[in-house]
Amino acid sequence: MALWSGRFEKGVSEFTQEFGASLPVDKAMYHQDIAGSRAHARMLAAQGVISQEDADAIVAGLSDIEKTIEEGNFVFDINDEDIHMSIEKVLTQNIGDAGARLHTGRSRNDQVITDTRLYAKMLAEDLMHDVNSLRQALIKAAKDNMGTILPGYTHMQHAQPVLLSHHFMAYFWMFSRDFARLKQAYDAANANPLGSAALAGTTYPLDRAKTTEELGFATMIPNSLDAVSDRDFLLDLDYACSVAMIHLSRLSEEIILWSTSEFAWWNSSEFSYIAIDDSFCTGSSIMPQKKNPDFAELIRGKSGRVVGDLMALLTTMKSLPLAYNKDLQEDKEGVMDACKTLHDCLVCMEGMISTMKINADAMRTQSKKGYLAATDVADYLAKKGLPFRKAHEIVGHLVLLCDKRGCDLDDLTLEDFKSASDLFEADITGALDLESIVAARTTYGGTGNSVVAEQIELGAQKLASDEALLK
Ligand code: ARG
Repeated sequence: MALWSGRFEKGVSEFTQEFGASLPVDKAMYHQDIAGSRAHARMLAAQGVISQEDADAIVAGLSDIEKTIEEGNFVFDINDEDIHMSIEKVLTQNIGDAGARLHTGRSRNDQVITDTRLYAKMLAEDLMHDVNSLRQALIKAAKDNMGTILPGYTHMQHAQPVLLSHHFMAYFWMFSRDFARLKQAYDAANANPLGSAALAGTTYPLDRAKTTEELGFATMIPNSLDAVSDRDFLLDLDYACSVAMIHLSRLSEEIILWSTSEFAWWNSSEFSYIAIDDSFCTGSSIMPQKKNPDFAELIRGKSGRVVGDLMALLTTMKSLPLAYNKDLQEDKEGVMDACKTLHDCLVCMEGMISTMKINADAMRTQSKKGYLAATDVADYLAKKGLPFRKAHEIVGHLVLLCDKRGCDLDDLTLEDFKSASDLFEADITGALDLESIVAARTTYGGTGNSVVAEQIELGAQKLASDEALLK
């Protein structure tokens, strides 16, 4: 019979027992559950609510149980409903009445949320480490490829040349914000609900500050109703995971695109910018020649399930009246799934970035196509005093001329330029040189070599200060 069976004349059916149980999911939190019980027992003894002997027996009994679980010898019985009941039942079987005193001044409602907050802190911290490994790989890729130019795109069309390092660093900053979001989720979880009991607090003289300190929470939650029913910190964690997955899906998409040798009709060429390492590709069971970017696709696809986890919890929380409702039991599985998925994807992406081959020549070849110098030719005229709008129109005409001739801007003669505007001189060739075009973009945050080098340095400093937060 369940530990709460006193007021019942019959139990639930086998089916409903299993339907209502959360043990298959929450047994993952056994360590946190034991830590919470240990802190609660010590505090009860310090406050004179239970004897010191009972507290000592509870603490020792909990350690035995933790060892049994870690050795794989603990029997998880679905009839116990959840991890809290499982451990308490076995504790009482093992140590007798002392075990039955543990639940004094406590409810599973504050117990579960204590466990969950401790668990969420651990998940968020692990993910912060994972994100930093990927950030490190991106910084390395940016440093190793300094000077490599590729076409920057808008609307998937060639726009202006940029440094590959600049492109890598754009992702670095995305994942830097993910670190900050995970840290915020960590901080949101970092408050102690223990001592709120079922919903209203308790008549026992609990010392909530003591359990707050022992469990390593930064603060304690000031309202018992809010404490047992708040799941915002899990939404924060789900959201942090979702945004990180969206970033991974964008990076995956570029990796897939960049590794394709698909013919690009708009400039008669192919991508082949990178080669994904064999260890991150798979073949086909029928087509012997295939090398597919399966893992990048899988990461892109898995973004769907993580966003789904966020939507599921948002929907579960909607309209829930105070305080604890069994709906809240649905909170953990999705978050665990989101965190595990993000962890796996970050590890995979870090490996892919660190091992892929960069085809700088292919990037260079593409950069010569699609009139990447057009803006700089217009700037050339504007710097000679022509209003930019007029310069824009003149260069538009030159591009049209190139289109008709099937050539690029640097194939035009000085006469061609001069017939469009007599402001053009022989030095126009400088405005057509890719290296000069890139190097000249020295505004803060721009793609110029000197400012990208500074950006990489700033990124490395930011990563180091974020790392220090994890020490
Ligand atoms: N298994 C429950 C959960 O995960 C624990 C709290 C149950 N409390 C209750 N009164 N039914 O939320």
